[in-house]
Amino acid sequence: MAAFGSPDIAIDLGTSNTLVVVRGKGIVVDEPSVVAVERLGGAQRVVAVGHNAKQMIGRTPENIEAIHPIKDGVIVDFDLAEALLRSCIERALGARPFVKPRVVVCVPNRLQDVERRAIQDAARSVGAKEVFLVGKPIAAAIGSAMPIERPLGNMVIDVGGGTTEIGIISLGGVVVTRSTQVGGNHFDHAITEWIKRTHNVLVGRRTSEDTKLKVGCAVVSHEPKQAHVTGRDLASGIPREIQISSDDVSEALQECLQQVVECLRDTLKESPPELAADITEQGMVLCGGSALLPGLDRYLRDRTGLPIVISEDPRRSAALGAGRLLDDQATLSRVAL
Ligand SMILES: Nc1ncnc2c1ncn2[C@@H]1O[C@H](COP(=O)(O)OP(=O)(O)O)[C@@H](O)[C@H]1O
Ligand SMILES: [Mg+2]
Repeated sequence: MAAFGSPDIAIDLGTSNTLVVVRGKGIVVDEPSVVAVERLGGAQRVVAVGHNAKQMIGRTPENIEAIHPIKDGVIVDFDLAEALLRSCIERALGARPFVKPRVVVCVPNRLQDVERRAIQDAARSVGAKEVFLVGKPIAAAIGSAMPIERPLGNMVIDVGGGTTEIGIISLGGVVVTRSTQVGGNHFDHAITEWIKRTHNVLVGRRTSEDTKLKVGCAVVSHEPKQAHVTGRDLASGIPREIQISSDDVSEALQECLQQVVECLRDTLKESPPELAADITEQGMVLCGGSALLPGLDRYLRDRTGLPIVISEDPRRSAALGAGRLLDDQATLSRVAL
């Protein structure tokens, strides 16, 4: 049925990844939020977007640069954010006969007016008929199948690439929301710094992220995993291999994790007492790509004393929730920013 309807789409424009849902089809684009540009004289030309552009990070010739247009949840390059949005929308709609779509974009709650306008303009310039902006926590809560319409405190925490966004939702509305600029990218950076400090070896960003994905853990484990990591020895200047354990990563991440806990506590402090009581009982849902860091749920549970469950598909919950809003215009109109 949906195939004959309008080709409405929902987009999660994240710091690390951009996902696009087409109504009736599910997720059709899931790519890194990276744009590669070639600079010739004063002009710049987009040469790659997404996976292809990410491959180029750290490996590009001088005149080509791979850029993240969104940093820590804030658009830092409007032209390239538009290029990214345009490319994703075009890829999602493919060669469909052109019917103007409704577009839902899920965005960080602290979005500035100028960013809001930029996203709306970009979506319209690619043919959107209507553009709805929806906060990430509410999209993630819907995507995690939380009962947001009930008169009950629903708490969701999305730990993404550049930010952690927390929301308390009740009766279909956001009651309290908070965010802090800490996420997976900061975890990677902390690992790089730890290795430099402890081994006097410099590793690249990709290597520290790979190490996190291989042996990363938020808490000390009974049987720590080991990874071999190669970087440049800062004394001799030549490559050197070192061994990193999951306990090393856990140690490296403590400061970042503490920041997440503080943001959680601040959110709870602002919550009306009834909703806080609900949350004490029901706990919260953890999502975002960094929810996949082993032990993060346990870490947050230990530090806050609250029950916590990981969303079923944490990396994609916000996109799935935004997609679900395409089928529910009443809720969409109510929650749109
Ligand atoms: N298995 C995993 N363990 C730890 N971190 C992960 C894992 N998978 C993805 N991540 C991290 O999740 C982050 C991206 O999360 P995502 O929700 O896609 O970000 P955003 O919504 O901010 O674009 C990255 O920092 C990535 O390294
Ligand atoms: Mg995300």
